[in-house]
Amino acid sequence: MRTPYFLVDEQALIKNLEILKSVMDKTGCKILLAQKAFSMFYTYPLLRRYLAGTTASGLYEARLGHEEFGGETHVYAPAYRPDEFDELLLYADDIIFNSPAQVKKYGAKARAAGKSIGLRINPQCSTQEGHDIYNPCAPGSRLGTTRDNFDESLLPLLDGLHFHTLCEQNADALELTVAAVEARFGNYLKAVKWLNLGGGHHITRKDYDVERLVRIIRHLQETYDLEIYLEPGEAVVLNAGFLVSEVLEVLHNDVDIAILDTSAACHMPDVLEMPYRPPVRGSRAAGEGAYTYRLAGPTCLAGDVIGDYSFDAPLVEGSRVIFEDMALYTMVKTNTFNGMALPDIVYRKSDGSLERVRRFGYADFKGRLS
Ligand SMILES: Cc1ncc(COP(=O)(O)O)c(C=O)c1O
Repeated sequence: MRTPYFLVDEQALIKNLEILKSVMDKTGCKILLAQKAFSMFYTYPLLRRYLAGTTASGLYEARLGHEEFGGETHVYAPAYRPDEFDELLLYADDIIFNSPAQVKKYGAKARAAGKSIGLRINPQCSTQEGHDIYNPCAPGSRLGTTRDNFDESLLPLLDGLHFHTLCEQNADALELTVAAVEARFGNYLKAVKWLNLGGGHHITRKDYDVERLVRIIRHLQETYDLEIYLEPGEAVVLNAGFLVSEVLEVLHNDVDIAILDTSAACHMPDVLEMPYRPPVRGSRAAGEGAYTYRLAGPTCLAGDVIGDYSFDAPLVEGSRVIFEDMALYTMVKTNTFNGMALPDIVYRKSDGSLERVRRFGYADFKGRLS
């Protein structure tokens, strides 16, 4: 296989899907795939056997979910475009608005088209520190309606409420958030039919407290008679994908530097944005192995650096470097800056065979330009 390529592993996907399905089976809740994290629609027929549907961030994801996944198609956006709303009604079953003004603008039309209508609330409960870029409850956030901005007169138009406040978190953070939702919006929970707990639940992580999640869901169902939705992205594909690359050149400038055929800026932008250090197969922390390298991309960006890693054997031209946990927020975020080619997409089936699902080339680069 020509590198770089994303490799998605069917067995690892199934392992995650079974955990998610067990939560649905135990509680009767519905779990949707958040396509913003992972939209490899080749896998949708498999995912559809386990999950209830998809959620979308706007028109195109809603269309993809409707056309390729089926089941329930939900959509939430901070604001909808007037010129897209009619088409959105063709694909979405549940439409979640960000503000009372958006409900007033589009709610009656969506209701007339037979859609289920929700409002995203902001419980103003931050359970994460550091990454304000990923904290919808940070002061000044535009995401979700605060208790002060809630307009009770709209309740007859609403079928459900939605919140999304977590990022890679365990069930204890959800418990705190649900308590804040109950404190601020508890009297409205009985007036609606469903509550969507958003994403950010790391349900398929080894240390995730699934039983606590089940207790929280049951509490909401029993106290308020609600249908419960969750819409994780990461948890669906956690540890189910790799980005396989090769060393193009090793050079030395104070440190040993391995230039790879993959780029942080183009192929794994969250490494720079978040920022975070992706696991590399067979590596250790810098300085802990015999050979330490700065792994870097082939673009012009000085900061196109993935990080410093140690290996037991030296890296040479042609050595394979495999980044782990690369199915989430990668393929959906790639770009062709510098004319970088997009990584191919490869699927490893349960019987071990590899299928190249997609090869990208010059046309994909040129097609985005004019
Ligand atoms: C509204 C909403 N739902 C679901 C998700 C999925 O979150 P995650 O991939 O962390 O589970 C996000 C992520 O930003 C989101 O904004």
